Amino acid sequence: MRRRPLVAGNWKMNTTIREAQQLAEAVVKAGADVVDRDIMIAPPFTALEAVSRIVRDSTSVQLAAQNICWAEKGAFTGDISPVMLKDTGCSMAIIGHSERRHVFGEDDAMINKRVLGALEFDLVPVFCVGETLDEREAGKTMEVLENQVRSGLAGVTADQAETIVIAYEPVWAIGTGKTATVEQAQEVHAFLRRLLGSMFQKNIATQIRILYGGSVNPENVDALISQEDVDGALVGGASLKADLFDRIIHFR
Ligand code: PGA
Repeated sequence: MRRRPLVAGNWKMNTTIREAQQLAEAVVKAGADVVDRDIMIAPPFTALEAVSRIVRDSTSVQLAAQNICWAEKGAFTGDISPVMLKDTGCSMAIIGHSERRHVFGEDDAMINKRVLGALEFDLVPVFCVGETLDEREAGKTMEVLENQVRSGLAGVTADQAETIVIAYEPVWAIGTGKTATVEQAQEVHAFLRRLLGSMFQKNIATQIRILYGGSVNPENVDALISQEDVDGALVGGASLKADLFDRIIHFR
């Protein structure tokens, strides 16, 4: 079964509200002819509402937050609740991105709370995992990924698992211009799918979309997504350039 591909843009800490509106308009236009794949964009929190007005009428573009709190409201200074995100029009949330893990020190237990919180409020988690260069060179890639997946998805039910999106983003490939080879990506994606099959059920694992992320660009996207278990891309830098993202959306 070929899963419906998803091309996701993670704008990180970029764009003013005005810039976000312009970029979102370009993405909606670029995605207007798209019928067989989904598009997601994750602007900064400050631009979510403005961007939501632009993507509202698009059938292909979904709005995502770059992180999400587990609680509905309360004393969580600096975090944003699932209810607030839904209020702005978000249907998805990136969770466990390597910058949250490595720059802000979020651990697996916190990431798990965020995943469960998103699911509780019917937001689709885009749950990110990935090994560092040291871990890869030490031959620990699969072990690290298995730990991240098992702890990040602890307590997730089989029904919920079906709806989530996983993003494999090797830390050494993010923002570095180094991409995993198609063989490295496929090897990890197949491993993750087998792992999900053992945690949930094989037929559920078959439906979960696993995206590749890390220096995805117009030159490498086609080969990556042509791999059996690569169901789309999570794009950082190239998602900020309308023409590049347009080409990536139209991977073939
Ligand atoms: P990049 O970022 O495409 O700039 O490498 C990917 C990501 O961090 O999601």
